[in-house]
Amino acid sequence: MKYIISNKSFNLIGSATVPGDKSISHRSLIIPSMCIGKTKITGLLESEDVFATMNALKTLGVKIYKSNKSWYVNGVGIFGFKEPTKYLDLGNSGTGARLILGAIMGSNILVNIKGDNSLSKRPMARILNPIKLMGAKIISSNDNKLPITIKGPKDVLAINYHSKISSAQIKSSILLAGLAASGITTVTEPKKSRNHTEKMLLNFGAKIYSKTLKDGSNRVELAGNPILKGRNINVPCDPSSAAFLIVAGIICPGSKIELQNIMINKSRDGLFTTLKEMGAKIEVFNKRELDGETIATIHTEYSKLKGILVPSNRAPSMIDEYPILSVAAACAKGNTTMEGVSELRVKESDRIKIISDGLNKSGIKTLEKSNSLTVSGGNIDGGCTIDSELDHRIAMSFLVLGLVSKKPIKVLRPSTIETSFPNFYKIMTEIGAKFTKK
Ligand code: S3P
Repeated sequence: MKYIISNKSFNLIGSATVPGDKSISHRSLIIPSMCIGKTKITGLLESEDVFATMNALKTLGVKIYKSNKSWYVNGVGIFGFKEPTKYLDLGNSGTGARLILGAIMGSNILVNIKGDNSLSKRPMARILNPIKLMGAKIISSNDNKLPITIKGPKDVLAINYHSKISSAQIKSSILLAGLAASGITTVTEPKKSRNHTEKMLLNFGAKIYSKTLKDGSNRVELAGNPILKGRNINVPCDPSSAAFLIVAGIICPGSKIELQNIMINKSRDGLFTTLKEMGAKIEVFNKRELDGETIATIHTEYSKLKGILVPSNRAPSMIDEYPILSVAAACAKGNTTMEGVSELRVKESDRIKIISDGLNKSGIKTLEKSNSLTVSGGNIDGGCTIDSELDHRIAMSFLVLGLVSKKPIKVLRPSTIETSFPNFYKIMTEIGAKFTKK
């Protein structure tokens, strides 16, 4: 597929089920690999990123297979990964690469790890620095980026790590390494990032404890060397994928969309809070528990939006949602300023720049600063071509923008959407989005 054209659409109507959560899917493969016994996973996201993690784990000697729509992982234990004879190729997946760097720490093996062009540009020092403190030897790296050759230590050291960045990938990598340490590993981050690793480790039998400190920071403590036992996992639907349908429903006149089994987690719900503040009609009901996470049904419908200030302390809970929020902001009356978003510059692309340039091409004014982005809502002319830059969320966001622009928007290299939401095109067209692919 070379490109997708998105055309003006009205009345997006229907009920949809988006695929399994990407963050939980990675963890549903990595954590059971470090267990004793077998884990059955239902609802795993079958996307390129998750398959990259799965293939890396297979290369590390883990047996993973599918039977009757469920996936099974036969754990090798915290210390049991075998030395791979080829590169681990994590493709586009930052989560896969960063979590696996931590997970292999207990196994005292030499590992070569690489990724695609986008992943090879992303910073890895944020992981290498703490795991070096835990005993890892970095044999080679491309200026602290992939490809990296790394050797795990004989004995992993427990550390107390204060991260300057609120990042679930940093926190999770250290915690996975900490499983192999004798003693207590702690990670403190300025604001709580997504907590799926903590929840899943607790469910699998680890002694792990989180606390909000007086200054608002989040501290997680993990006791090393737990006995982790395989169990069943049901993966809830991904709120970050649902976000594209939610915003499409809110901005396309005449729309009403219902989404099933969406994960509702405080460390992931910043977009809902923000859209409600902008005036969006979003209803969350039928909340229930699923393997330590809450799921619910979400209703949205066409709403008139107003611009707002999105505070920096909300960023960790909506870090992946800024591209699609910017699309909503383009449709709002007035300015929307998103503060504290410098981490967007080191995602699958420099998202602040690409969103800003793409919106300008579509006729929308923006103000880009190093750590903030302001979008001035107005007339969306469209009639432009946007390259995905190998960033799935950029591709999907501009396809949603095309639904409300005067002239169509063409998105190049849309196959990057396969990394997180393989049936995006199908689900969107089923509810009435006018997309054409070439
Ligand atoms: C993720 C954490 C976030 C997020 C990414 C998935 C995870 O990254 O952007 O898409 O599954 O841990 P950071 O930890 O870099 O904020």
